[in-house]
Amino acid sequence: MTLAILASEWANFLIRWVHVIAGIAWIGSSFYFVHLDLSLRKHEGLGAGIGGEAWQVHGGGFYNMVKYVVAPPHLPKELTWFKWEAYATWLSGFAMFIALYYTHAELYLIDRTVLDIAPATAIAISVAGLILGWVVYDQMCRSPLGRSDALLGAVGFVLLVACAYGFTKVFSGRGSYVQIGAMIGTIMVASVAHTIIPNQRKIVVSLLAGETPDPALGAAGKQRSVHNNYLTLPVVFLMISNHYPLAFASRWNWLIIALVVVIGVSVRHFYNSRHAHKPSPWWTWAVATAAMLAIIALSAQGPADVRGAVTGAVPAVQKVAFSDVQDIVISRCSMCHAEEPVWDGVGVAPKGVMLDTPARIQLHADAIYLQAVATHAMPPGGNLTEISDDDRRVIAAWVENGAPGP
Ligand code: HEC
Repeated sequence: MTLAILASEWANFLIRWVHVIAGIAWIGSSFYFVHLDLSLRKHEGLGAGIGGEAWQVHGGGFYNMVKYVVAPPHLPKELTWFKWEAYATWLSGFAMFIALYYTHAELYLIDRTVLDIAPATAIAISVAGLILGWVVYDQMCRSPLGRSDALLGAVGFVLLVACAYGFTKVFSGRGSYVQIGAMIGTIMVASVAHTIIPNQRKIVVSLLAGETPDPALGAAGKQRSVHNNYLTLPVVFLMISNHYPLAFASRWNWLIIALVVVIGVSVRHFYNSRHAHKPSPWWTWAVATAAMLAIIALSAQGPADVRGAVTGAVPAVQKVAFSDVQDIVISRCSMCHAEEPVWDGVGVAPKGVMLDTPARIQLHADAIYLQAVATHAMPPGGNLTEISDDDRRVIAAWVENGAPGP
Protein backbone atom coordinates (compact mmCIF):
# COMPACT_ATOMS: atom_id res chain seq x y z
CA MET A 1 0.00 0.00 0.00
CA THR A 2 1.47 3.32 -1.02
CA LEU A 3 1.26 6.42 1.14
CA ALA A 4 -0.80 8.18 -1.54
CA ILE A 5 -3.47 5.48 -1.44
CA LEU A 6 -3.52 5.46 2.34
CA ALA A 7 -3.88 9.24 2.45
CA SER A 8 -6.58 9.45 -0.19
CA GLU A 9 -8.64 6.61 1.31
CA TRP A 10 -8.59 8.21 4.76
CA ALA A 11 -9.18 11.70 3.43
CA ASN A 12 -12.29 10.41 1.65
CA PHE A 13 -13.51 8.57 4.71
CA LEU A 14 -12.95 11.53 7.06
CA ILE A 15 -14.63 14.06 4.77
CA ARG A 16 -17.60 11.72 4.48
CA TRP A 17 -17.77 11.40 8.25
CA VAL A 18 -17.77 15.17 8.71
CA HIS A 19 -20.31 15.59 5.92
CA VAL A 20 -22.79 13.15 7.42
CA ILE A 21 -22.44 14.67 10.91
CA ALA A 22 -22.82 18.24 9.62
CA GLY A 23 -25.80 17.13 7.55
CA ILE A 24 -27.46 15.53 10.58
CA ALA A 25 -26.92 18.72 12.59
CA TRP A 26 -28.33 20.88 9.79
CA ILE A 27 -31.33 18.74 8.93
CA GLY A 28 -31.98 18.18 12.62
CA SER A 29 -32.10 21.88 13.38
CA SER A 30 -34.17 22.51 10.25
CA PHE A 31 -36.74 19.88 11.27
CA TYR A 32 -36.69 21.18 14.81
CA PHE A 33 -37.36 24.81 13.92
CA VAL A 34 -40.05 24.04 11.37
CA HIS A 35 -41.74 21.88 13.98
CA LEU A 36 -41.36 24.57 16.64
CA ASP A 37 -42.67 27.27 14.35
CA LEU A 38 -45.74 25.24 13.43
CA SER A 39 -46.52 24.27 16.98
CA LEU A 40 -46.51 27.85 18.36
CA ARG A 41 -49.89 28.83 19.79
CA LYS A 42 -51.36 32.28 20.24
CA HIS A 43 -53.30 33.11 23.38
CA GLU A 44 -54.18 36.00 25.66
CA GLY A 45 -51.47 37.48 27.77
CA LEU A 46 -48.48 36.95 25.52
CA GLY A 47 -46.12 39.90 25.64
CA ALA A 48 -45.93 42.59 22.98
CA GLY A 49 -44.56 41.37 19.64
CA ILE A 50 -44.88 37.70 20.57
CA GLY A 51 -46.56 35.68 17.83
CA GLY A 52 -46.96 32.43 19.72
CA GLU A 53 -45.80 30.16 22.48
CA ALA A 54 -44.95 26.46 22.78
CA TRP A 55 -44.05 24.22 25.69
CA GLN A 56 -41.65 21.37 25.18
CA VAL A 57 -40.09 18.73 27.37
CA HIS A 58 -36.75 17.12 26.65
CA GLY A 59 -33.84 15.69 28.57
CA GLY A 60 -35.32 16.21 32.00
CA GLY A 61 -36.33 19.84 31.61
CA PHE A 62 -39.25 21.97 30.41
CA TYR A 63 -38.75 24.60 27.76
CA ASN A 64 -41.01 27.57 27.27
CA MET A 65 -40.48 28.83 23.73
CA VAL A 66 -41.88 32.12 22.49
CA LYS A 67 -41.44 33.61 19.06
CA TYR A 68 -41.08 37.32 18.40
CA VAL A 69 -42.55 37.61 14.96
CA VAL A 70 -40.29 40.40 13.76
CA ALA A 71 -37.87 40.97 16.61
CA PRO A 72 -37.80 41.43 20.36
CA PRO A 73 -37.99 44.99 21.70
CA HIS A 74 -34.40 44.77 22.93
CA LEU A 75 -31.67 42.75 21.36
CA PRO A 76 -30.45 40.10 23.81
CA LYS A 77 -26.76 40.09 24.70
CA GLU A 78 -26.28 36.56 23.52
CA LEU A 79 -27.85 35.30 20.33
CA THR A 80 -27.27 31.88 18.76
CA TRP A 81 -27.13 31.86 14.99
CA PHE A 82 -27.77 28.69 13.01
CA LYS A 83 -25.63 28.73 9.94
CA TRP A 84 -22.46 26.70 10.37
CA GLU A 85 -24.44 23.45 10.21
CA ALA A 86 -25.43 24.42 6.68
CA TYR A 87 -22.06 25.82 5.62
CA ALA A 88 -20.13 22.82 6.98
CA THR A 89 -22.47 20.43 5.18
CA TRP A 90 -21.92 22.19 1.88
CA LEU A 91 -18.17 22.62 2.27
CA SER A 92 -17.58 18.98 3.21
CA GLY A 93 -20.01 17.83 0.52
CA PHE A 94 -18.31 19.85 -2.16
CA ALA A 95 -14.89 18.61 -1.00
CA MET A 96 -16.16 15.06 -1.41
CA PHE A 97 -17.66 15.86 -4.81
CA ILE A 98 -14.23 17.15 -5.92
CA ALA A 99 -12.33 14.23 -4.39
CA LEU A 100 -14.47 11.63 -6.12
CA TYR A 101 -16.48 13.00 -9.01
CA TYR A 102 -14.08 15.66 -10.29
CA THR A 103 -10.78 13.90 -9.53
CA HIS A 104 -12.03 10.63 -11.04
CA ALA A 105 -14.50 12.09 -13.51
CA GLU A 106 -13.98 9.28 -16.01
CA LEU A 107 -15.01 6.72 -13.38
CA TYR A 108 -17.88 8.49 -11.67
CA LEU A 109 -19.17 11.48 -13.59
CA ILE A 110 -18.79 10.54 -17.22
CA ASP A 111 -20.45 7.69 -19.07
CA ARG A 112 -19.01 7.43 -22.57
CA THR A 113 -22.13 5.68 -23.80
CA VAL A 114 -24.27 8.60 -22.64
CA LEU A 115 -21.99 11.40 -23.83
CA ASP A 116 -18.31 11.14 -24.59
CA ILE A 117 -16.87 14.27 -23.00
CA ALA A 118 -13.50 15.19 -21.56
CA PRO A 119 -13.19 15.37 -17.74
CA ALA A 120 -12.59 19.15 -17.89
CA THR A 121 -15.78 19.63 -19.90
CA ALA A 122 -17.76 17.47 -17.48
CA ILE A 123 -16.46 19.43 -14.49
CA ALA A 124 -17.26 22.76 -16.17
CA ILE A 125 -20.83 21.60 -16.90
CA SER A 126 -21.23 20.40 -13.33
CA VAL A 127 -20.02 23.68 -11.77
CA ALA A 128 -22.15 25.71 -14.19
CA GLY A 129 -25.14 23.61 -13.14
CA LEU A 130 -24.53 24.33 -9.46
CA ILE A 131 -24.31 28.08 -10.05
CA LEU A 132 -27.18 28.33 -12.54
CA GLY A 133 -29.45 26.25 -10.32
CA TRP A 134 -29.07 28.77 -7.53
CA VAL A 135 -29.40 31.85 -9.76
CA VAL A 136 -32.60 30.58 -11.37
CA TYR A 137 -34.12 29.55 -8.04
CA ASP A 138 -33.21 32.84 -6.37
CA GLN A 139 -34.64 34.90 -9.22
CA MET A 140 -37.83 32.84 -9.18
CA CYS A 141 -38.35 33.50 -5.47
CA ARG A 142 -37.81 37.23 -5.98
CA SER A 143 -40.06 37.45 -9.05
CA PRO A 144 -43.87 37.80 -8.85
CA LEU A 145 -43.90 33.99 -9.00
CA GLY A 146 -42.48 34.02 -5.47
CA ARG A 147 -45.76 35.42 -4.12
CA SER A 148 -47.63 32.19 -4.78
CA ASP A 149 -46.16 29.19 -2.99
CA ALA A 150 -48.21 26.76 -5.09
CA LEU A 151 -47.17 28.27 -8.43
CA LEU A 152 -43.55 28.57 -7.35
CA GLY A 153 -43.57 24.94 -6.23
CA ALA A 154 -45.11 23.76 -9.52
CA VAL A 155 -42.67 25.68 -11.72
CA GLY A 156 -39.75 24.64 -9.51
CA PHE A 157 -40.78 21.00 -9.79
CA VAL A 158 -41.00 21.14 -13.59
CA LEU A 159 -37.56 22.79 -13.80
CA LEU A 160 -36.08 20.22 -11.44
CA VAL A 161 -37.42 17.32 -13.50
CA ALA A 162 -36.10 19.00 -16.66
CA CYS A 163 -32.66 19.21 -15.01
CA ALA A 164 -32.86 15.56 -14.00
CA TYR A 165 -33.73 14.58 -17.55
CA GLY A 166 -31.02 16.81 -19.01
CA PHE A 167 -28.24 15.66 -16.71
CA THR A 168 -28.98 11.97 -17.23
CA LYS A 169 -28.32 12.67 -20.93
CA VAL A 170 -24.95 14.26 -20.13
CA PHE A 171 -23.48 12.39 -17.15
CA SER A 172 -23.48 8.82 -15.91
CA GLY A 173 -26.56 7.82 -13.93
CA ARG A 174 -24.76 8.02 -10.61
CA GLY A 175 -23.04 11.25 -11.63
CA SER A 176 -26.33 12.88 -12.55
CA TYR A 177 -27.97 11.80 -9.29
CA VAL A 178 -25.23 13.33 -7.18
CA GLN A 179 -25.17 16.40 -9.45
CA ILE A 180 -28.91 17.00 -8.93
CA GLY A 181 -28.47 16.38 -5.19
CA ALA A 182 -25.59 18.85 -5.12
CA MET A 183 -27.63 21.43 -7.05
CA ILE A 184 -30.51 21.21 -4.58
CA GLY A 185 -28.06 21.24 -1.67
CA THR A 186 -26.34 24.32 -3.08
CA ILE A 187 -29.68 26.10 -3.43
CA MET A 188 -30.47 25.26 0.19
CA VAL A 189 -27.14 26.49 1.55
CA ALA A 190 -27.04 29.56 -0.68
CA SER A 191 -30.48 30.47 0.69
CA VAL A 192 -29.01 30.38 4.18
CA ALA A 193 -25.92 32.39 3.22
CA HIS A 194 -27.55 34.83 0.84
CA THR A 195 -31.08 35.38 2.11
CA ILE A 196 -31.85 33.93 5.52
CA ILE A 197 -28.79 35.11 7.46
CA PRO A 198 -28.32 38.51 5.70
CA ASN A 199 -32.00 39.33 6.21
CA GLN A 200 -31.69 38.42 9.85
CA ARG A 201 -28.65 40.69 10.12
CA LYS A 202 -30.55 43.59 8.58
CA ILE A 203 -33.26 43.04 11.18
CA VAL A 204 -30.66 43.18 13.93
CA VAL A 205 -29.11 46.35 12.49
CA SER A 206 -32.40 48.19 12.28
CA LEU A 207 -33.24 47.05 15.82
CA LEU A 208 -29.98 48.45 17.10
CA ALA A 209 -30.79 51.70 15.30
CA GLY A 210 -34.08 51.81 17.20
CA GLU A 211 -36.16 51.28 14.05
CA THR A 212 -38.87 48.71 13.39
CA PRO A 213 -37.45 46.09 11.00
CA ASP A 214 -39.22 45.38 7.73
CA PRO A 215 -41.36 42.23 8.21
CA ALA A 216 -40.74 41.32 4.54
CA LEU A 217 -37.16 40.45 5.49
CA GLY A 218 -38.26 37.80 7.96
CA ALA A 219 -40.95 36.51 5.61
CA ALA A 220 -38.46 35.96 2.77
CA GLY A 221 -36.17 34.05 5.12
CA LYS A 222 -39.11 31.97 6.32
CA GLN A 223 -40.12 31.11 2.75
CA ARG A 224 -36.63 29.82 1.94
CA SER A 225 -36.41 27.86 5.13
CA VAL A 226 -39.72 26.13 4.37
CA HIS A 227 -38.43 25.25 0.89
CA ASN A 228 -35.33 23.78 2.51
CA ASN A 229 -37.49 21.69 4.78
CA TYR A 230 -39.37 20.22 1.82
CA LEU A 231 -36.17 19.54 -0.11
CA THR A 232 -34.29 17.60 2.57
CA LEU A 233 -35.78 14.15 1.98
CA PRO A 234 -35.11 14.08 -1.79
CA VAL A 235 -31.57 15.39 -1.26
CA VAL A 236 -30.74 12.62 1.19
CA PHE A 237 -32.16 10.03 -1.23
CA LEU A 238 -29.97 11.38 -4.04
CA MET A 239 -26.88 11.47 -1.84
CA ILE A 240 -27.15 7.85 -0.74
CA SER A 241 -28.39 6.60 -4.12
CA ASN A 242 -24.92 5.76 -5.40
CA HIS A 243 -25.01 2.31 -3.84
CA TYR A 244 -28.28 1.45 -5.53
CA PRO A 245 -27.86 1.16 -9.30
CA LEU A 246 -31.52 0.18 -9.81
CA ALA A 247 -32.32 3.81 -9.04
CA PHE A 248 -29.55 5.75 -10.78
CA ALA A 249 -28.59 3.39 -13.61
CA SER A 250 -31.94 2.14 -14.81
CA ARG A 251 -33.74 3.44 -17.87
CA TRP A 252 -36.16 5.75 -16.08
CA ASN A 253 -33.60 7.21 -13.68
CA TRP A 254 -34.75 10.80 -14.34
CA LEU A 255 -38.41 9.95 -13.74
CA ILE A 256 -37.43 8.24 -10.48
CA ILE A 257 -35.97 11.57 -9.29
CA ALA A 258 -39.31 13.26 -10.04
CA LEU A 259 -41.17 10.64 -8.01
CA VAL A 260 -38.72 10.89 -5.13
CA VAL A 261 -39.43 14.61 -4.93
CA VAL A 262 -43.15 13.82 -4.81
CA ILE A 263 -42.54 11.36 -1.96
CA GLY A 264 -40.32 13.78 -0.03
CA VAL A 265 -42.78 16.65 -0.29
CA SER A 266 -45.80 14.47 0.61
CA VAL A 267 -44.12 13.06 3.68
CA ARG A 268 -42.97 16.49 4.89
CA HIS A 269 -46.47 17.82 4.28
CA PHE A 270 -47.89 15.10 6.49
CA TYR A 271 -45.58 15.91 9.40
CA ASN A 272 -45.81 19.66 8.95
CA SER A 273 -49.63 19.48 9.08
CA ARG A 274 -49.52 17.31 12.15
CA HIS A 275 -47.06 19.55 13.94
CA ALA A 276 -49.33 22.47 13.20
CA HIS A 277 -52.14 20.50 14.90
CA LYS A 278 -54.13 20.47 11.69
CA PRO A 279 -56.09 17.35 10.68
CA SER A 280 -53.50 14.74 9.62
CA PRO A 281 -53.47 14.44 5.81
CA TRP A 282 -53.29 10.63 5.71
CA TRP A 283 -53.74 10.70 1.94
CA THR A 284 -50.10 11.80 1.65
CA TRP A 285 -49.05 8.25 2.59
CA ALA A 286 -51.15 6.87 -0.26
CA VAL A 287 -49.37 9.25 -2.64
CA ALA A 288 -45.96 8.32 -1.24
CA THR A 289 -46.70 4.59 -1.41
CA ALA A 290 -48.00 4.80 -4.98
CA ALA A 291 -44.95 6.81 -6.02
CA MET A 292 -42.62 4.32 -4.33
CA LEU A 293 -44.29 1.36 -6.06
CA ALA A 294 -43.99 3.21 -9.37
CA ILE A 295 -40.27 3.78 -8.68
CA ILE A 296 -39.72 0.09 -7.98
CA ALA A 297 -41.57 -0.90 -11.16
CA LEU A 298 -39.64 1.66 -13.24
CA SER A 299 -36.33 0.47 -11.80
CA ALA A 300 -36.97 -3.02 -13.19
CA GLN A 301 -37.33 -1.78 -16.78
CA GLY A 302 -33.69 -2.39 -17.66
CA PRO A 303 -30.51 -0.34 -17.86
CA ALA A 304 -30.30 3.27 -18.97
CA ASP A 305 -28.06 2.11 -21.76
CA VAL A 306 -30.68 0.27 -23.82
CA ARG A 307 -28.12 -1.32 -26.11
CA GLY A 308 -27.24 -4.78 -24.87
CA ALA A 309 -29.99 -4.81 -22.26
CA VAL A 310 -30.88 -8.27 -21.08
CA THR A 311 -34.64 -8.23 -20.69
CA GLY A 312 -37.02 -10.90 -19.54
CA ALA A 313 -36.06 -14.19 -17.97
CA VAL A 314 -33.09 -15.99 -19.45
CA PRO A 315 -34.07 -19.55 -20.52
CA ALA A 316 -33.04 -22.06 -17.88
CA VAL A 317 -31.86 -24.49 -20.53
CA GLN A 318 -29.02 -22.16 -21.39
CA LYS A 319 -26.28 -23.87 -19.40
CA VAL A 320 -23.28 -21.73 -18.59
CA ALA A 321 -19.90 -23.08 -17.53
CA PHE A 322 -18.53 -21.29 -14.47
CA SER A 323 -15.18 -20.95 -16.18
CA ASP A 324 -16.84 -18.71 -18.83
CA VAL A 325 -18.22 -16.45 -16.12
CA GLN A 326 -14.87 -16.39 -14.37
CA ASP A 327 -13.07 -15.42 -17.57
CA ILE A 328 -15.48 -12.55 -18.13
CA VAL A 329 -15.29 -11.22 -14.59
CA ILE A 330 -11.51 -11.55 -14.39
CA SER A 331 -11.00 -9.76 -17.69
CA ARG A 332 -13.66 -7.03 -17.22
CA CYS A 333 -13.92 -6.40 -13.50
CA SER A 334 -10.89 -7.60 -11.56
CA MET A 335 -8.50 -4.90 -12.78
CA CYS A 336 -10.31 -2.74 -10.21
CA HIS A 337 -11.95 -5.37 -8.01
CA ALA A 338 -8.90 -7.24 -6.72
CA GLU A 339 -6.66 -7.37 -3.70
CA GLU A 340 -4.15 -5.27 -5.64
CA PRO A 341 -6.08 -3.33 -8.28
CA VAL A 342 -4.09 -2.48 -11.40
CA TRP A 343 -6.42 0.20 -12.74
CA ASP A 344 -4.91 3.67 -12.61
CA GLY A 345 -6.52 5.73 -9.86
CA VAL A 346 -8.11 2.76 -8.08
CA GLY A 347 -6.05 2.22 -4.93
CA VAL A 348 -7.97 -0.47 -3.07
CA ALA A 349 -10.80 -2.71 -4.22
CA PRO A 350 -13.80 -0.35 -4.53
CA LYS A 351 -16.24 -0.83 -1.65
CA GLY A 352 -14.18 -3.87 -0.66
CA VAL A 353 -15.69 -5.83 -3.53
CA MET A 354 -13.06 -8.27 -4.83
CA LEU A 355 -13.84 -10.35 -7.89
CA ASP A 356 -10.55 -12.10 -8.38
CA THR A 357 -11.11 -15.71 -7.24
CA PRO A 358 -13.87 -18.23 -8.06
CA ALA A 359 -15.15 -18.16 -4.47
CA ARG A 360 -15.36 -14.34 -4.39
CA ILE A 361 -17.06 -14.21 -7.77
CA GLN A 362 -19.68 -16.70 -6.61
CA LEU A 363 -20.13 -14.83 -3.33
CA HIS A 364 -20.91 -11.60 -5.19
CA ALA A 365 -23.18 -13.17 -7.83
CA ASP A 366 -26.21 -11.04 -6.98
CA ALA A 367 -24.20 -7.83 -6.79
CA ILE A 368 -22.56 -8.64 -10.14
CA TYR A 369 -26.02 -9.19 -11.61
CA LEU A 370 -27.35 -5.89 -10.25
CA GLN A 371 -24.36 -3.90 -11.47
CA ALA A 372 -23.68 -5.52 -14.82
CA VAL A 373 -26.98 -7.02 -16.01
CA ALA A 374 -30.02 -5.41 -14.38
CA THR A 375 -28.20 -2.12 -14.89
CA HIS A 376 -25.03 -1.22 -16.70
CA ALA A 377 -23.55 0.66 -13.74
CA MET A 378 -20.46 -1.57 -14.00
CA PRO A 379 -18.00 -1.49 -15.63
CA PRO A 380 -18.10 2.23 -14.79
CA GLY A 381 -17.53 5.23 -17.00
CA GLY A 382 -19.75 3.81 -19.73
CA ASN A 383 -18.20 0.36 -19.93
CA LEU A 384 -14.54 1.36 -19.59
CA THR A 385 -13.37 -2.25 -19.83
CA GLU A 386 -15.68 -3.00 -22.77
CA ILE A 387 -17.68 -5.94 -21.58
CA SER A 388 -19.74 -7.26 -24.51
CA ASP A 389 -23.49 -7.67 -24.62
CA ASP A 390 -23.01 -11.42 -24.99
CA ASP A 391 -20.86 -11.47 -21.86
CA ARG A 392 -23.65 -9.74 -19.94
CA ARG A 393 -26.04 -12.43 -21.18
CA VAL A 394 -23.70 -15.14 -19.96
CA ILE A 395 -23.64 -13.55 -16.49
CA ALA A 396 -27.43 -13.21 -16.60
CA ALA A 397 -27.93 -16.87 -17.47
CA TRP A 398 -25.46 -17.93 -14.76
CA VAL A 399 -27.16 -15.96 -11.99
CA GLU A 400 -30.68 -16.82 -13.09
CA ASN A 401 -29.70 -20.50 -12.97
CA GLY A 402 -28.67 -20.16 -9.35
CA ALA A 403 -25.05 -19.03 -9.82
CA PRO A 404 -23.45 -22.46 -9.50
CA GLY A 405 -19.75 -22.62 -8.54
CA PRO A 406 -16.94 -24.32 -10.43
C1 HEC B 1 -12.43 0.82 -13.75
C2 HEC B 1 -12.62 0.21 -12.48
C3 HEC B 1 -13.80 -0.71 -12.30
C4 HEC B 1 -14.13 -1.79 -13.06
C5 HEC B 1 -13.47 -2.30 -14.32
C6 HEC B 1 -15.29 -2.36 -12.44
N1 HEC B 1 -15.63 -1.66 -11.32
FE1 HEC B 1 -17.07 -2.14 -9.98
N2 HEC B 1 -16.63 -0.47 -8.91
C7 HEC B 1 -15.68 0.45 -9.25
C8 HEC B 1 -15.75 1.55 -8.32
C9 HEC B 1 -14.87 2.79 -8.34
C10 HEC B 1 -16.77 1.23 -7.41
C11 HEC B 1 -17.20 2.02 -6.17
C12 HEC B 1 -18.31 2.92 -6.43
C13 HEC B 1 -18.63 3.69 -5.17
O1 HEC B 1 -17.77 4.42 -4.70
O2 HEC B 1 -19.74 3.56 -4.71
C14 HEC B 1 -17.29 -0.06 -7.80
C15 HEC B 1 -18.28 -0.72 -7.10
C16 HEC B 1 -18.72 -1.98 -7.43
C17 HEC B 1 -19.62 -2.77 -6.62
C18 HEC B 1 -20.15 -2.37 -5.26
C19 HEC B 1 -21.27 -1.41 -5.36
C20 HEC B 1 -21.68 -0.84 -4.04
O3 HEC B 1 -21.99 0.34 -4.02
O4 HEC B 1 -21.67 -1.54 -3.03
C21 HEC B 1 -19.85 -3.92 -7.30
C22 HEC B 1 -20.74 -5.08 -6.88
C23 HEC B 1 -19.12 -3.85 -8.55
N3 HEC B 1 -18.44 -2.67 -8.60
C24 HEC B 1 -19.13 -4.82 -9.53
C25 HEC B 1 -18.39 -4.75 -10.69
C26 HEC B 1 -18.48 -5.73 -11.76
C27 HEC B 1 -19.40 -6.92 -11.77
C28 HEC B 1 -17.59 -5.33 -12.71
C29 HEC B 1 -17.31 -6.00 -14.05
C30 HEC B 1 -18.44 -6.23 -14.89
C31 HEC B 1 -16.96 -4.13 -12.25
N4 HEC B 1 -17.47 -3.81 -11.03
C32 HEC B 1 -15.95 -3.47 -12.92
C33 HEC B 1 -14.76 0.37 -10.26
C34 HEC B 1 -14.74 -0.63 -11.21
